[in-house]
Amino acid sequence: MKQQQPQPGRVDALLGIVFGDEGKGKVVDVFTPRYDVVARFAGGPNAGHTIIFDGKKFVLRSIPSGIFDTGKLNIIGNGCVIAPDLFMAEARELEAAGYDLRSRLHISTRAHLILPTHRVLDRAYEAAKGKNAVGTTGKGIGPTYAEKASRTGLRVGDILRDFPERYAALKARHEQILRDLHFTDYDIADEEQRWLEGIEYMRQFTLTDTATEINTLLRQGKTVLAEGAQGTMLDIDHGTYPFVSSSNTTTGGVCTGLGVPPTRIGEVYGIFKAYSTRVGAGPFPVELFDATGDRLREIGHEYGAVTGRNRRCGWVDLVALRYAIMVNGVTQLIMMKSDVLDGFDTIRACVAYEKDGVQTTDMPFDTEGWTAVYRDIKGWQEDLSTMTSEEQFPQAFRDYIAFLEAELQTPITILSVGPDRQQTIVR
Ligand code: GDP
Ligand code: IMO
Ligand code: MG
Repeated sequence: MKQQQPQPGRVDALLGIVFGDEGKGKVVDVFTPRYDVVARFAGGPNAGHTIIFDGKKFVLRSIPSGIFDTGKLNIIGNGCVIAPDLFMAEARELEAAGYDLRSRLHISTRAHLILPTHRVLDRAYEAAKGKNAVGTTGKGIGPTYAEKASRTGLRVGDILRDFPERYAALKARHEQILRDLHFTDYDIADEEQRWLEGIEYMRQFTLTDTATEINTLLRQGKTVLAEGAQGTMLDIDHGTYPFVSSSNTTTGGVCTGLGVPPTRIGEVYGIFKAYSTRVGAGPFPVELFDATGDRLREIGHEYGAVTGRNRRCGWVDLVALRYAIMVNGVTQLIMMKSDVLDGFDTIRACVAYEKDGVQTTDMPFDTEGWTAVYRDIKGWQEDLSTMTSEEQFPQAFRDYIAFLEAELQTPITILSVGPDRQQTIVR
């Protein structure tokens, strides 16, 4: 595979630019050998990043996908939220598989802690929303970020100072809110036990000021890969609000979530699938409710890595992609899962949205009620998954790539044709 070397002293970002699950984990794992540091800057265990190599499969939630390259430093940055019990389970699984984490996984003291009661609040708020529920992952993400913003949260660094008192006070506050909501049908006793065990487990890791650490390394000319979580359409500011997650998943989030200045950002890789998926509720103009949608789900194995829920499927959405390229400053695109489109006579691309006879190519404020306007594209019958170089691609697939590049005005430099590390083609 041809390799583009990162620039010394730069942070490159690899961001999901649609609704998440684009294949970020796979590509971060492929990219890691070129970088000194891999860092997560947003989200928490709502993420599920799948990595497949040598016949083994791992799904990472909070731990960066650079962890399989045993020489590299991995960082969970201040913009992340972390659940100690889930972190412990995830880390132990990796340790059982032979990966030593303690010396090369550092966690920001400024990252916020997800309490068991945050997860109960997540359920309670969802229940209160009724038919307007977001369809969250139930991991307590929203309540934890809300508490960060309202300046009442607990941070990783609090583990190192009068923690029991702080924990008890915050838990009591949550219990009061739950009583006020009349949401009393929960029992966190076992969960809390594991959570407190997770707190002790976390103490064995380097809990530190990762912003200073990263900036020191950058000044020494080291290279950092910022691993996105979720995707631009789930960004709290730029996504399909209120059907979004609760952090900034976009390039700006790299700066705030790691403590690096914008002047340090180098390449911005925008990753998307050759078609679209969305898990959870909210507008999705390209959604297919027919046999084609089922076929994409079936062939693409579109079932959530975290919750196992069916992912909603549709054709690629150029309105969403153009908006995401703009707000992130994407310099290169990575197209994943092209192999899933093998065997379609015709594939389609959404080139505009339409409502009440009006068309737009700009992302509307309210994506509710818009339908997709499509362009038909000739499909291909060949099996892309066995191909190892661009020269082998069928003409129809080349035409699809050229069409997307022209529409998006951004080069697609990497193509993924299967879930394995090896099935990655650099152009
Ligand atoms: P992430 O959250 O962005 O890291 O993506 P997920 O891991 O949630 O979902 C991507 C899914 O697609 C995983 O099951 C991957 O193993 C799989 N995958 C990644 N790239 C490809 C590809 O090019 N082709 C196929 N068929 N599957 C892929
Ligand atoms: P990765 O990193 C896909 C979705 C949830 C829900 C909404 C809010 O694997 O791409 P939350 O639990 O964050 O409050 O849920 O966001 N969501 C994701 N969808 N991939 C993800 O992460 C997601 N993380 C959250 O389904 O609609
Ligand atoms: Mg995922």
